[in-house]
Amino acid sequence: MHSIPVAGLLVAVSASLGAAQTSAPPRTVWDGVYTEAQAARGLMAFGQSCAGCHALAAEGKAPLVGDSFWKSFSQKTVGELFEYVSANMPNGTPGSLNEATYRDLVALLLKSNGFPAGAAELGPNTTAGVQIVPKDGGTALPANALARVVGCLSRSGTDWVVTRATTPERAERAAEGGEDATRPLGTRTMPLKFVVTRLDGLAGSRVAVSGLLIGDGGADGINVTVVSRVAPKCP
Ligand code: HEC
Repeated sequence: MHSIPVAGLLVAVSASLGAAQTSAPPRTVWDGVYTEAQAARGLMAFGQSCAGCHALAAEGKAPLVGDSFWKSFSQKTVGELFEYVSANMPNGTPGSLNEATYRDLVALLLKSNGFPAGAAELGPNTTAGVQIVPKDGGTALPANALARVVGCLSRSGTDWVVTRATTPERAERAAEGGEDATRPLGTRTMPLKFVVTRLDGLAGSRVAVSGLLIGDGGADGINVTVVSRVAPKCP
């Protein structure tokens, strides 16, 4: 008999744990996630292994600072930056440095892009959730980022648009198949540009669209690469 109240208590406990997890603000690159000493070590490694191909500045050859950094990494995490660098660089001999050196190089990239140093080094377990976002907390992806939106496919004159579009998110962050069919939609209308395939068969469906954003945050639409139906009706 008394198993019923016990079950109720368990549900209450797990519900409050869930709430506590979602209310903790995510860490960001503005929270001081590396040290000056670590970035200085990174600079030595950079001179040896990276400087032949990359400028540690906003301009020059294959620049790693400023617009090009934001275009590739905003709204990603420091963990993803680490994964990218350690899996692909130095180009030609990827993975040839040790993990600690890759972390030092990531610290250098953070410093060079203007994020503050802090009291603790970037360690093996401290990169994963740290988000790369602008200081003002803006979440708009920059122009030319590969992004995706979900919404309702409709015609507007001779053009195709997605109405009730979700905020553009990194295409790599694609939600699992089923989720797109039921997730809440947004309010904006996203023009689809350079559509080369016939979309008539998908009109009125709920679709996921990916492509390059035109203008910051996709202000002028999305240069479409893929349109796929996620549910026959919309919303
Ligand atoms: C032999 C030349 C070469 C070397 C050495 C090299 N890179 Fe690269 N790196 C490239 C090229 C080429 C790309 C672009 C790859 C692509 O877009 O597929 C790139 C891309 C990158 C990017 C992504 C840039 C962006 O805006 O998307 C980062 C970060 C990076 N390299 C860091 C490093 C670091 C750190 C080192 C030293 C460990 C390094 N690279 C060494 C050639 C090199």
